[in-house]
Amino acid sequence: MTNPEGRPLHLVPPPGLGRVVVGEAELAARVAALGAQITNDYRDRPPLLVGVLKGAFMFMADLSKAIELEVECDFMAVASYGSATKTSGVVRIVKDLDADLTGRHVLIVEDIVDSGLTLSYLRRNLQARSPASLEVCALLVKEGLQKVDPQLRYVGFRIPADFVVGYGLDVAERHRNLPCIRVWEGAPGGGGGGGGGGAA
Ligand code: IMP
Ligand code: MG
Repeated sequence: MTNPEGRPLHLVPPPGLGRVVVGEAELAARVAALGAQITNDYRDRPPLLVGVLKGAFMFMADLSKAIELEVECDFMAVASYGSATKTSGVVRIVKDLDADLTGRHVLIVEDIVDSGLTLSYLRRNLQARSPASLEVCALLVKEGLQKVDPQLRYVGFRIPADFVVGYGLDVAERHRNLPCIRVWEGAPGGGGGGGGGGAA
């Protein structure tokens, strides 16, 4: 048995994986639309895309292909201190950018904005490097959790405040390779059984 895209269906989903929040076809359509919008907005000033690892790796790959401009791609890896499913806002740069941002039109490509603390740190850090412009494209935004407006230029989907995995997003480094976004109902440490809500 296959789904409409011809992929085999898991009749019994692995334990811990809950309902699909954003399906594969929906992701592809929205990423194409974001790419078209960015192509139009940046026509006369091709951007430097800054992917935030690891969560944004899949979104960055698909989005960059949907932008019909000579973009440059760079990556930065950040780790935030906190529990398995909650950020504390204290962010550590694990891998910095190779590119010099001075005078560049920088577009941060983020996987998900939850409290907005990681993004607010990143924005301040990159703004201090004198880019000509600095905007954010976030695939997912959790509804109602940001204390201040995260000022996102592009948003893929606004979703309920559940912990989600897939399409780059992980729980304890697992499930990043799912082709869609699903709710995580297992343990915060990534185990499938004995769950009680990952976002606790
Ligand atoms: P924030 O600082 O609370 O906005 O959290 C942002 C970061 O936490 C994201 O870049 C993700 O790496 C991670 N994160 C937040 N919510 C989720 C989720 O539901 N699933 C997986 N990772 C998440
Ligand atoms: Mg992440």
